[in-house]
Amino acid sequence: MTANTIDGKALATIIKKDISEKIKSRIAQGYRPPGLAVILIGEDPASSIYVQNKRQACEQVGIHSVYHHLPTQIEENSLIELIHSLNQDEKIDGILLQLPLPKHIDADKVLEHIHPQKDVDGFHPYNLGRLAQRRPLLRPCTPYGVMMLLEHIKQIYKGKHAIIIGASNIVGRPMALELLIAGATVTVCHRFTHELSHYVKQADILISAVGKPGLIKGSWIKPGSTVVDVGFVRLLNGTITGDVEFDIAKEHAAWITPVPGGVGPMTVAMLLGNTLFAANPHRE
Ligand code: GUN
Repeated sequence: MTANTIDGKALATIIKKDISEKIKSRIAQGYRPPGLAVILIGEDPASSIYVQNKRQACEQVGIHSVYHHLPTQIEENSLIELIHSLNQDEKIDGILLQLPLPKHIDADKVLEHIHPQKDVDGFHPYNLGRLAQRRPLLRPCTPYGVMMLLEHIKQIYKGKHAIIIGASNIVGRPMALELLIAGATVTVCHRFTHELSHYVKQADILISAVGKPGLIKGSWIKPGSTVVDVGFVRLLNGTITGDVEFDIAKEHAAWITPVPGGVGPMTVAMLLGNTLFAANPHRE
């Protein structure tokens, strides 16, 4: 068997076009464009590229983005003050604080200061709580993007065994909540899991979100399964790769996401969708 590739870039393009049209019609009705504040602290090269991509995507669809690039030494209180002022700013619908933060800043504490209605990353305990209660509002972008990819290929997920590798707050944990809502039986593996292969071999749906190239051997992939690779690592030779041995996995799976061009573009598309949702005057 050779797997079908799930083209995240193509799906993200369709979603962005739809968002762009909705923003045009919103403006035609006399509303202002949605506004997103993007905060980057320091000079981490990967974070700088992510932020640049997100701001560029905003521009493509007509979201007004306001950039706050702060020095690494910024004090936690000054960052919280900025967030409070953005919470009050009527032209700003969403606040994105790019992670990771410098070690002297408590990310969990700071994220809780973002108003839940402006929390377009879906990281605030209120939004995660809503997801845990099966009443999602603003959903974390990467797991939300994975769900869109899974919906797009129209497989049946009820009762299927989903294995998630990685238990981070950003991907693994909210991913488990999303797949539970979809009716899958969910297992989360993490750094203390013994014999990872034992779990991967059972996966009807495998989501790997670790960032370790070659962690998932292609030979472990269950025949006919769906493989979603959230890993994204730049090797010394400049190639971008995921967690899964793609070429071998492709011979076993029915569906597989490439890296790059799989989950990454969907994360950005979901951020734009969340910003539009946050700006919608008729939202809940
Ligand atoms: N760093 C890595 N992924 C993300 C993300 O989805 N959102 C934010 N804000 N920071 C990240």
